[in-house]
Amino acid sequence: MIKVLMVASEAAPFAKTGGLADVVGSLPAALRSFDCEVAVLIPRYRAVDLSSARRIYDSLPVWLGGVLHQTSLYQADAATPFYFLEAPSLYDRDGFYGDSDGDYPDNAARFAVLSRAALAVARRVFRPQILHCHDWQSGLVPVYLRTVFAFDPTFLGMKTLFTIHNLGYQGLFPPVVLPRVGLDRRVFKMDGLEFFGQVSFIKGGLNYSDAVSTVSKKYALEIQTPEYGFGLDGVLRARSADLHGILNGVDYGNWDPQTDPHIASHYSAGDLSGKRLCKQALIREFGLPELAMKRPLLGAISRLTPQKGTELIVEIAPQLTAEDLYLVMLGSGDAVYEEALRAAALAHPDRIGVRFGYDEALAHKIEAGADLFLMPSQYEPSGLNQMYSLRYGTVPVVRATGGLDDTIDEGTGFKFQEYSAQAFLAAVRAAAAAYEDRPGWEAMLRRGIRRDFSWRASAAEYAALYQKLLESGENAASFSRIQHQTHLRG
Ligand code: ADP
Ligand code: GLC
Repeated sequence: MIKVLMVASEAAPFAKTGGLADVVGSLPAALRSFDCEVAVLIPRYRAVDLSSARRIYDSLPVWLGGVLHQTSLYQADAATPFYFLEAPSLYDRDGFYGDSDGDYPDNAARFAVLSRAALAVARRVFRPQILHCHDWQSGLVPVYLRTVFAFDPTFLGMKTLFTIHNLGYQGLFPPVVLPRVGLDRRVFKMDGLEFFGQVSFIKGGLNYSDAVSTVSKKYALEIQTPEYGFGLDGVLRARSADLHGILNGVDYGNWDPQTDPHIASHYSAGDLSGKRLCKQALIREFGLPELAMKRPLLGAISRLTPQKGTELIVEIAPQLTAEDLYLVMLGSGDAVYEEALRAAALAHPDRIGVRFGYDEALAHKIEAGADLFLMPSQYEPSGLNQMYSLRYGTVPVVRATGGLDDTIDEGTGFKFQEYSAQAFLAAVRAAAAAYEDRPGWEAMLRRGIRRDFSWRASAAEYAALYQKLLESGENAASFSRIQHQTHLRG
């Protein structure tokens, strides 16, 4: 039995803005079949419902930079211990990371406290062999472990894995935060936390953990190149020997058209008739004409950020309508994209429907009711929606990057290479043409529905990696850092 404590900023169903929450919410249960006992620590944001949680620790004091943060701990009523770190002055807010004015100004302290508290949880509540950290918000966990607590017997032999879900978010702060997050200036160096004059929390995760992983094999290669490395490709190349690509899995308990409680009718590969009813319900939901039943209905669900290629969808929208196609989209994020999409829908109200905000039920309805699913991402570490789409018989049209390239092939979807409206439009046209051949189209849907992206294979890879870490010597992290320095010099 391997004991693992995961530290993250989101976990479904308690707190979610994107795929990170899906992963942290469902991987722990999958790991149980591989002899791993996993607990998870996330902040107790205002949105985290405590009604069925128990308060298990009244006072878990966290001293940071001369400030005492009074925290307490709740545990959800669930098979996996999900712990919620309560510190009202830091987390009792509507947003997880920011509000309409941008990122919260105290994010460095908010997530430093989370990381320090993780070590308090590891000491007093759930003693793991592996600390598995996700994204920059938990990047300081391995830093504290290898500096402040380097000689603390409680943590002897404890190993860290840092998983990159998105290299585009790095947790960058001015150097003045160092004392506030309780770190010595000595970590402010190139093979430490320094990044172009700023403190980078993600570099903490990359440089101080025993191993690094990311969420697809292709993305693991891409981030070692300048094009996708966000300035960290050198750091990642230096760690390539312990950089692993493990694809995200799907929680089919939550995403399956045979059981989904949110959709108009259930269906399966053997009987697709329910999918038509889902399409009809979706068309009505968005106020599109019944004529749309005869034509391809394109769907998209995403955070509206540059990463997701929203601009390409906006760019091709007029052409889509001219070619007798229909589009429904759900998203939340940057105001510029919301405005552009709203304008497109206003210009073509009988062709394009948009909805803004976060709506879990509607996301399921779009997966089920659309014919095609659009993901023209600039980069996509793994992507979950294209895998959900396959299971819902909704053919993905994706840019061949990261996890999109690893999960979609010509038997199940349509891919394009170049990040351009032209290349994207060509792929959508190819899909729309294929839609006309009903038997061929249905065969494609069925192949997609039958693909298996459940967690089994990926959980096995994580378990093997934990095992390998436990078998490795004490100094995996410092060894890599030496390699890194040599590499930079040589
Ligand atoms: P990312 O994590 O980069 O946003 P993923 O494809 O890994 O991308 O996961 C996105 C997850 O968030 C999916 O579960 C998707 O359904 C969900 N999602 C994204 N935007 C919304 C939204 N506006 N409303 C509801 N669910 C959303
Ligand atoms: C990130 C990525 C997405 C991935 C998710 C979960 O938000 O953008 O591709 O699926 O994390 O790993």
